[in-house]
Amino acid sequence: MAVALLVAAGRGERLGADRPKAFVVLAGRPLLEWSLAALRGVPAIERIVVALPPGFDAPAGTIGVSGGIERSHSVRAALAASLAAADGGDGDPSEPVIVHDAARPLVTPEQFERALAALEQSGADAVVAAAPVTDTIKRARPSGEVEATLDRRTLWAIQTPQVFRRGALSAALAQPDELLAAATDDAWLIEQAGGRVHVVESPRENLKVTTAVDLRLAALLLEERC
Ligand code: CTP
Ligand code: MG
Repeated sequence: MAVALLVAAGRGERLGADRPKAFVVLAGRPLLEWSLAALRGVPAIERIVVALPPGFDAPAGTIGVSGGIERSHSVRAALAASLAAADGGDGDPSEPVIVHDAARPLVTPEQFERALAALEQSGADAVVAAAPVTDTIKRARPSGEVEATLDRRTLWAIQTPQVFRRGALSAALAQPDELLAAATDDAWLIEQAGGRVHVVESPRENLKVTTAVDLRLAALLLEERC
C-alpha cells in the first residue's frame, strides 16, 4: 500500500487569480479536485494528505494540513501528517510515498500506477514522472552567447508524480530549511544526498498550470476527455 501527498498550498502568484491556484475552478471543479479524482482511482493508495493554504478545509476523505513557506516545506508538513494519521511511530521506511502537485490536473490513475511499479522494479530511492524534451536546449552565457547545445536524447522535463521510499524522503526533508527552499523538486534533495533517482516516461499533456495560458490549455484538454 502507498500514501499520497497532494501539495496545494501555493499562492499561485504567476496565475494571478482571485484565490489560491489549487482552488481556481477549471472545467467545472476546483483544480485540486482533478488530481484527487485520479488519486482516488488508484487502489494501492490507502490515504491522501493535502497541504492547504490558510483558511481552506481538507477535501472529503482526505487529511488536511497547513502548507509551508516553500513547496518542500509543504511536502514535509504533509509527510509528517501522513505519519501521525497512521500509528504515531516513524512509519515503515520502505512504504511508497507519492508526491503530486495539485497544479497538474491532467494526471491519470495510470501515471501514479506506472510510477509505483517503476519504484518496485528499479530499486531506486525515488522515481519521477518525466517527458522527453522536444525542444533543442542550449546553454548560454549571461551575455547571450551560446556555450553549448545539449544532447536532447539524454534530457527530460521533470513533472510530478514523484514516488519515494518513505525513509529516503524523510531523510531528504530533514535537511535545513534553506536547502529545502532551494529545491524545485524533492528528488533533487535525494540526489544531493547521493540517493538514486529514476525517470519514468510521462506524456507532455501532464502539464503544470503556472500561468493563464496553461489554465486555458488544461481546460481544453479536460473538456476533450469528458
Ligand atoms: N505549493 C505548496 N506550498 C508552497 C508552494 C507551492 O504546496 N509553499 C504547491 C502548489 O500549490 C502547487 C505545487 O506546489 O500545487 C507547485 O508549485 P507552483 O506551481 O509554483 O504553484 P504556486 O507556488 O502556487 O504558484 P506561484 O509560484 O506562481 O505562486
Ligand atoms: Mg511556486
